[in-house]
Amino acid sequence: MSAVMHAVRERHSTRAFLARPVEEALLRQIIEAALYSPSSGNLQPWHLQALSGDALARLKQAVALTLTANPRGEGMGYPIYPADLEPRYQARRAKCAEDLYATLGVERDDRAGRAAQFARNFTFFDAPVGMILSIDRSLGSAQWADLGMFLQTLLLLAHEQGLATCAQACWTLVHQTLQRELQLPMGAMVFCGVAVGYADPLHPINRLRTERVALGEMAEFRGFAQSDRRPDASIVSSGESNEAR
Ligand SMILES: Cc1cc2nc3c(=O)[nH]c(=O)nc-3n(C[C@H](O)[C@H](O)[C@H](O)COP(=O)(O)O)c2cc1C
Repeated sequence: MSAVMHAVRERHSTRAFLARPVEEALLRQIIEAALYSPSSGNLQPWHLQALSGDALARLKQAVALTLTANPRGEGMGYPIYPADLEPRYQARRAKCAEDLYATLGVERDDRAGRAAQFARNFTFFDAPVGMILSIDRSLGSAQWADLGMFLQTLLLLAHEQGLATCAQACWTLVHQTLQRELQLPMGAMVFCGVAVGYADPLHPINRLRTERVALGEMAEFRGFAQSDRRPDASIVSSGESNEAR
């Protein structure tokens, strides 16, 4: 398997971390490489703050104060999901949540248990590094797609370096606090947080492996020669030709 294919298949969200710190030099190297993500018109519409140590502790403290005063947060800076999420998407979302809580033995009707796990988002799951990704409010959906590509590149590069990550859209719930504490420009919109660190291999929550729809459910292939229709035809490692297989 090629290195990229391996990283794509092996990366997964991590929600429990070891106390082991992440070296700034390694993080800089990863972020610098992620800058080579493509973007429409090469706008590079991404902004990132990486926090560790005291800076991270101060932010978490400020966010904790916000959530103590108002446990529902500050409203969403942007809607993470549409209000009328289609049933097939709703089902995938529910299954993912179900599987997540099952790793912890939290039952469906255990509201307090679910809320407690959700609240752990706002400590970056105790990761030694927390990142906040933001975008200029003036930009549109194409630039948000670019930002998503940057995020994925970042996650894959981190994985390749042995780091575990979790992207966290929920940080939009405290977007005003982030704006204030991180002195984000007035025109900035927080997209997500990213927890970064070394995975706790023993924590049950890290056993979660989410499902994917089958290729045939999301892709259509037209006009290919019949001989290309083998089930594995889409998986070719770099440098490997069809003849070689
Ligand atoms: C933009 C984005 C936002 C996410 N927000 C959260 C979040 O707030 N909390 C959380 O626990 N996981 C969050 N996730 C992780 C997803 O639940 C996860 O990527 C998905 O279930 C697929 O699982 P995998 O990452 O393990 O492959 C987010 C992922 C992405 C890409």
